[in-house]
Amino acid sequence: MCGIVGYVGRSEAAPILLDGLRRLEYRGYDSAGVAIIAGDQLETRKCAGRIADLGKLIGKDTPVGTYGISHTRWATHGKATDQNAHPHFDASGKLALVHNGVIENYQALKDDMLREGNHVFVSETDTEVLAHLIGKIYDSSGANGSTPPQNSKSRLVAAVRAALQQVIGTYGIALVHRDIPDFLVGARRGSPLVLGVGKDENFLASDVSAIVAYTRDAVYLNDFDVVAVERDKFEISSVAGEGGKYEVSKVEFTDEDIKKGDYPHYMLKEIYEQPGSVRDAMRGRLSHEECTAKLGGLEMTAAELRDVRRIVLTGCGTALHAARIGEYIIEQLAGVPTEVEFASEFRHRNTPMTRDTLVFAISQSGETADTLGALRESRRKGYRALGICNNVASTIARESDGGVYMHAGPEIGVAATKSFTSQVTIMALIGLLLGRMRHLSTSEGSAIIDALEALPAQIEETLKLTDQVRAIAKKYASVNGMLFFGRQFNYPIALEAALKLKEITYLFAEGHPSAELKHGIIALVRPDLPSVFIAPDDAVFSKNMNNIEQVKARKGPVIAITSGACGERLANIADDIITIPSAPEFVTPVLSVIPLQLLAYHLAVELGRDVDKPRNLAKSVTVE
Ligand code: AGP
Ligand code: GLU
Repeated sequence: MCGIVGYVGRSEAAPILLDGLRRLEYRGYDSAGVAIIAGDQLETRKCAGRIADLGKLIGKDTPVGTYGISHTRWATHGKATDQNAHPHFDASGKLALVHNGVIENYQALKDDMLREGNHVFVSETDTEVLAHLIGKIYDSSGANGSTPPQNSKSRLVAAVRAALQQVIGTYGIALVHRDIPDFLVGARRGSPLVLGVGKDENFLASDVSAIVAYTRDAVYLNDFDVVAVERDKFEISSVAGEGGKYEVSKVEFTDEDIKKGDYPHYMLKEIYEQPGSVRDAMRGRLSHEECTAKLGGLEMTAAELRDVRRIVLTGCGTALHAARIGEYIIEQLAGVPTEVEFASEFRHRNTPMTRDTLVFAISQSGETADTLGALRESRRKGYRALGICNNVASTIARESDGGVYMHAGPEIGVAATKSFTSQVTIMALIGLLLGRMRHLSTSEGSAIIDALEALPAQIEETLKLTDQVRAIAKKYASVNGMLFFGRQFNYPIALEAALKLKEITYLFAEGHPSAELKHGIIALVRPDLPSVFIAPDDAVFSKNMNNIEQVKARKGPVIAITSGACGERLANIADDIITIPSAPEFVTPVLSVIPLQLLAYHLAVELGRDVDKPRNLAKSVTVE
């Protein structure tokens, strides 16, 4: 789920590993640890808590050595304790392993080893079982200690392969062995792992952002790759023992791009980056001449696009909310029946699909296990499945039949913000492209392009609301929760606003279509539970007004997000009114979400929450 960093080179490993972990901490952060080989000692420091706690531990007694591995954990098996923190060891205590993912058959493997004797497990993790298994196979494959080092290297790689052949589940792993100098082994299946290629030094990491400060040359490993890494060389093969094909690519961002700058939190930085990220999502993709969008990455001919009769949009969390807006946009602009499916449900449900169904898997990270599962299942069934990803080198991006990159730049805050507005923008590009091939006229196409191109400046305008939103956040800082309501294009914004609030403030929040109020939710309305209505100047404004009246009649406070002249109509009813720029209906969600991102942010700050690393969450969810 979270972070792995490995290093072999000529510099001291401890500071490099710790620095890498800090850069990955946003991905999961309940415990952390390092193992460094110092002479003939395998030195380990690990503890529950944040990287800062590990830093203190290392600071007291720093292991000296030029190769090692490290980990930040997001617990799946066993509580967040010192004992369960990675690295874990084999029975000899000489082999140390870090692991992201889940070994699903760990109990059976553990029982087998317990029956054999010689194995004492000290943690509750699935990872420790894998460490024991690799160590057992390695030890049984050679005469103790007398093997020449070169031979030990290939024996260790062979042991890793043999162990992984017995494993059911997902893994990104890195390991070292006390008796094999300057040598790391890595492997992946389902959890990302990248090799950073340096000069006289090499790196392993679950995400390039951990190592981009040291090298921008990277090999993105594929599932079932095993990599043997030394200072000046590396060798990639498969779990089955075949030679692996690989390509060294340039990381598309620099260390500068992942710095927080003057912002107190990544989340705020990323909220403020939205004028640029939305512009980048459209860059080079709008044709004024043809009044349409150009999405070459879809890798589909005009005839194939015209033959699409049904679209399925799938994803998780915030990406799913963008999909829900996509459903409205694509149906309105292109008239193509569109459905939204939770990736986790879609992948296991036997949905009847027609031959001309097109699937889009939407994912910022491109690594979300359920979304990847949905993509793979769609392709298995023979459907064309495209990715909408931010992370260019991600598994979803690589495994899809084509797609659209978000180009939003690295998103570090656990709460997704700029990736969401990029996803919605891309939904509009897809709607425009498909619409222009069907019934949209050139003038309608042009009007859509104008609306999209106006967005960056309108987002700038909307961001100026931050002081007003901060004041509202202060006013409501003592509430126990909030309700969010919207209709049509802005119904998914109610869902997204509620998710943002839950994630970073830990307050209770729900989002619903406004009209659902009277079907039950209204029972919750009371003077200390504010309702936020996303009610811009659109075709359903007066319907939203009815619902606002219903809440006010029951003494519920109302915060309204509105636009145009509708502010005046709300003046005597809503307690607080936030006015966003006016825009055509299909693009309003890109604007209306911004004050709500800011509301969640300022409320979280007000409550003293850890905005970028909210409790229990991880940025990239690579477990099912
Ligand atoms: C958003 O704020 C959440 N952290 C989460 O719901 C996220 O959107 C979800 O896990 C999907 O992530 P992805 O876009 O990387 O696939
Ligand atoms: N399943 C392992 C554990 O619970 C690894 C979790 C992770 O990906 O951090 O320790």
